[in-house]
Amino acid sequence: MGSQPKPQILFNRQEIEATISRLAAEISKDYHNKYPLLIGILKGSFMFLADLIRLLDFPLEVEFIRLSSYGKGSQTSGRVKIEQDLSSSIEGREVLLIEDIVDTGLTTAFLLDYLKKKKPVSLKLCALTDKPSRRKTPVTIDYLGFTVPDKFLVGYGLDLDEKFRNLPDICFLEGEDQC
Ligand code: IMP
Repeated sequence: MGSQPKPQILFNRQEIEATISRLAAEISKDYHNKYPLLIGILKGSFMFLADLIRLLDFPLEVEFIRLSSYGKGSQTSGRVKIEQDLSSSIEGREVLLIEDIVDTGLTTAFLLDYLKKKKPVSLKLCALTDKPSRRKTPVTIDYLGFTVPDKFLVGYGLDLDEKFRNLPDICFLEGEDQC
């Protein structure tokens, strides 16, 4: 495995829990009678989505889509590819996209554009974290958890080369520079 950069806690599990409760309250207010379809972007959003929907006490459906946008390490490739598409139609649905992090915005902007063409009634974005300092394309985040500094984050679903997803806190890696 070689030497690993050491994860430092940025937001601990109590802070994550409080933030997700706030997001759940905002989402419940807007969607409680709309039978929304929540689309989790794999893999990074799986933990966030799982915790969020347990606080949503109304009928909803869940779908997943898997994209690849990053090359190895923390270097973005700038290209977005659909690795695993939705398994059902979203036409006429109230769709809420669930993302782990909006960084350059390229992935989310690509996906919002892709989904819009499938004619949902509404399409909004909920992101656990936002790194606005790195934005290359504008993205509107309708429900935001945390604004984060320009550091590479891991934990709570976020990875570096598939590692660290299982950390219960949102951490940054000391010594791992952003590109
Ligand atoms: P964007 O296209 O640059 O906005 O990046 C979106 C995707 O890149 C996210 O869904 C993550 O999978 C990944 N990503 C961006 N920044 C980070 C980070 O700090 N840690 C882990 N993954 C990241």
